[in-house]
Amino acid sequence: MAKRFVVAVCGATGAVGREMLKTLEQRKFPCKEVRALASARSKGTTVPFAGTDLIVDELTDDSFAGVDIALFSAGGATSERFAPSAAKAGCVVVDNSSAWRMDPNCPLVVPEVNPHDLDWHKGIIANPNCSTIQMVVALKPLHDAAKIKRIVVSTYQAVSGTGQKAIEELSGQVQDIFNMRSPEVKVYPYRIAFNCLPQIDVFLDDGYTKEEMKMVNETKKIMGDDSIKVTATCVRVPVFYGHSESVNIETETKLTAEEARIILAKAPGVTVVDHPKEKLYPMPIDAAGEDDTFVGRIREDDTIANGLNLWVVADNLRKGAALNAVQIAETLVARDLVRVP
Ligand code: A2P
Repeated sequence: MAKRFVVAVCGATGAVGREMLKTLEQRKFPCKEVRALASARSKGTTVPFAGTDLIVDELTDDSFAGVDIALFSAGGATSERFAPSAAKAGCVVVDNSSAWRMDPNCPLVVPEVNPHDLDWHKGIIANPNCSTIQMVVALKPLHDAAKIKRIVVSTYQAVSGTGQKAIEELSGQVQDIFNMRSPEVKVYPYRIAFNCLPQIDVFLDDGYTKEEMKMVNETKKIMGDDSIKVTATCVRVPVFYGHSESVNIETETKLTAEEARIILAKAPGVTVVDHPKEKLYPMPIDAAGEDDTFVGRIREDDTIANGLNLWVVADNLRKGAALNAVQIAETLVARDLVRVP
């Protein structure tokens, strides 16, 4: 009989944690038992899983005895605090925060792009930033075909990427505005309803945000190519689910738009939606709840010799977070890597 695993979801009450539970169930991950963990605030509450209600327990250093795989989505500080004790207890951690992503001892993995990096894990595996995941899923096949030299990306990111409180804030602000009340602003520095915020995460000294630099640094690590130049502008938009990206690439050798379309149509995890005359292109309302990364608006950039423009959309809670984490767990199982060396 195929092996089954004890899985802990740390941050089970959050937007991504709930999606992780849903994804484990939908993909029939071989779970022997699922433990829902969150902060002391949630102890004793319940979260739905496979037609039942799991009782949430408090995440502590002792939570990992007998656990094979822990999926973390409880913020960077919680991961920094608890992931090492989980790994020490022999549990393989897949962490959705930014805490371990650039640690040279931790693989940063998108299963369609660099599954081989799981082979050298030492107990903690990092799940990349949501915007980076969907971009590399779309770009890796083009990189393999024509070697990408430079990427210029602008993002249009949904509020669910910030978590449950931000989903409630957008919905509350819309209701406030329609009811002539002054909207309450708590999660973001400014109102997000009917607005765009060119700030995701904090600003660094050079004027870029941390989110923008995550896209730069994580792309190079996942693609295993430090020579790719990346520059990013990350924008929060009043969309609940689904990140969109305008991506411009310069390649070493020429790819026509049609060649890129053919390559992407065959790429794992990618669906091409590109019929502009019929007004068919990817949109977050269509990507929400879907597993694939959708690519459209594929055009040659004739301002340079070898350039392409693409529009890339994916569900940030699924491929951008929960699904990618569960796919990492599936790949660990397939490669017999569910153990801490
Ligand atoms: P809780 O609901 O008990 O606060 P989101 O990203 O949607 O805001 O969710 C964050 C998740 O991380 C929630 O499940 C939250 O639990 C959990 N979390 C936050 N801080 C801690 C902590 N110190 N220990 C364990 N879980 C935490």
